Amino acid sequence: MEILDGKKVSNEIKAEIKVEVDQMKERGEKVPHLAAVLVGTDGASLTYVGSKVRSCKRIGFESTFIHLPENTTEEELLRQVEDLNNNVDIDGYIVQLPLPRHIDEQKVLMAVDPDKDVDGFHPTNFGKMTLDMESFVPATPYGIMELMRRYDVDTEGKHTVVIGRSHIVGRPISILMSQKGKAANSTVTLTHSRTKDLAKFTREADIIVSALGVPDFLKADMVKEGVVIVDVGITRVPDATKEKGYYITGDVDFGNVSKKASHITPVPGGVGPMTIAMLLKNTLIARERHRSRS
Ligand code: GUN
Repeated sequence: MEILDGKKVSNEIKAEIKVEVDQMKERGEKVPHLAAVLVGTDGASLTYVGSKVRSCKRIGFESTFIHLPENTTEEELLRQVEDLNNNVDIDGYIVQLPLPRHIDEQKVLMAVDPDKDVDGFHPTNFGKMTLDMESFVPATPYGIMELMRRYDVDTEGKHTVVIGRSHIVGRPISILMSQKGKAANSTVTLTHSRTKDLAKFTREADIIVSALGVPDFLKADMVKEGVVIVDVGITRVPDATKEKGYYITGDVDFGNVSKKASHITPVPGGVGPMTIAMLLKNTLIARERHRSRS
């Protein structure tokens, strides 16, 4: 069994990006600038955004954190988005999801300039990705693909079963893995909450990408020997014995499933750090596109 070490690979990718940023600085060029907008005080979102901003600093990017109160109106957020679209200093930005319920998420994501949409959530980027055109690919699926590419996981002609049809992970990874190319060319089944007898699919799967958010959902009797497991779940489970009052776990019963798997991503230290690395990669790409146009 081989661990797909997202922490290690993400550090390699960040080091590669840092080399490029250092060269930009030597040439006296502007460095990439990422902005992150967070509405409210959700603990997990604060942690993710904090991590993204800290990673920017470490590799030499500029970063701006825009923290808005929970009661921010949709109109105010749309104005903020418009400001970021018009700010020539910003190469890319993200609006952290989920948004408070009184704000229409689709309306906000539609307002983001596709050229600055480093999350790849705007329909222009999502459509281009689906049509094999150059686009910003959402960071989590992009990270999964890159992790499998760098470990040379054989996906060609394999049966990949994706659990969960979210716009952020399940839907895009099902598209990417069915496309042509490395870590792709897979036969994909997209399963979800209405799938009948899910275990029938997972037992047949060569590769399972689980993006459900239910701790210990995928058990050893639901997978076959030699399966490749990509665990996208990141759930905080309350635990008074821990310093933070919780521990982080994935969708997979790691202890038992790892005994049958050929490759498996841990949680934490698997897909999570890859997401951040690929967001930085998208921001670097955004800067290069903006430079070549100016
Ligand atoms: N919430 C959970 N994952 C993501 C992500 O990749 N981007 C944004 N903006 N919000 C998220």
